[in-house]
Amino acid sequence: MMTRSPESHSRLDPEPISRRDLLGLSSLWMTGASLLFALFGALRLPRAAVLDSPSKKVRVSLPETLAEGTPFVPPGRAMALFRDTEGVFAISTVCTHLGCIVEPTAGGFECPCHGSIFAADGSVTRGPAPQPLRWLKVSASGDDWIVDEAAAVPAGTQVNA
Ligand code: FES
Repeated sequence: MMTRSPESHSRLDPEPISRRDLLGLSSLWMTGASLLFALFGALRLPRAAVLDSPSKKVRVSLPETLAEGTPFVPPGRAMALFRDTEGVFAISTVCTHLGCIVEPTAGGFECPCHGSIFAADGSVTRGPAPQPLRWLKVSASGDDWIVDEAAAVPAGTQVNA
């Protein structure tokens, strides 16, 4: 009777994997996993991080004591509302140069980023801003005002109360 020694191999025994092959397979799996993660990340890139608001209309209550020519900036909004004898109007406070938020001053607006200066009607007094500030569409709603940040109107457009 014939017995097998522990060192002998049968033809049916699987071939032992060499260290080189094991490392090669490991690196292949790691490369595949890295590509999968990279693909997953790339698929996420084109999406906007912030969803666009479905409406750009803002309801604003003007203070009763708002003096003529004094801007009222609703908290968290890039607009300034004014009331004078002819009505109410709104001017966007987004700078037409690179989009910084301009700050109201005594005579108009000033951009803190590159120093553009705008007159009270939004026209450019000093660049580099290439265009005047946009006037926004305003409509009355009871005692409040609805300002549409997405709708520009010609400069000088006012709404009566
Ligand atoms: S962003 Fe206003 S001057 Fe540049």
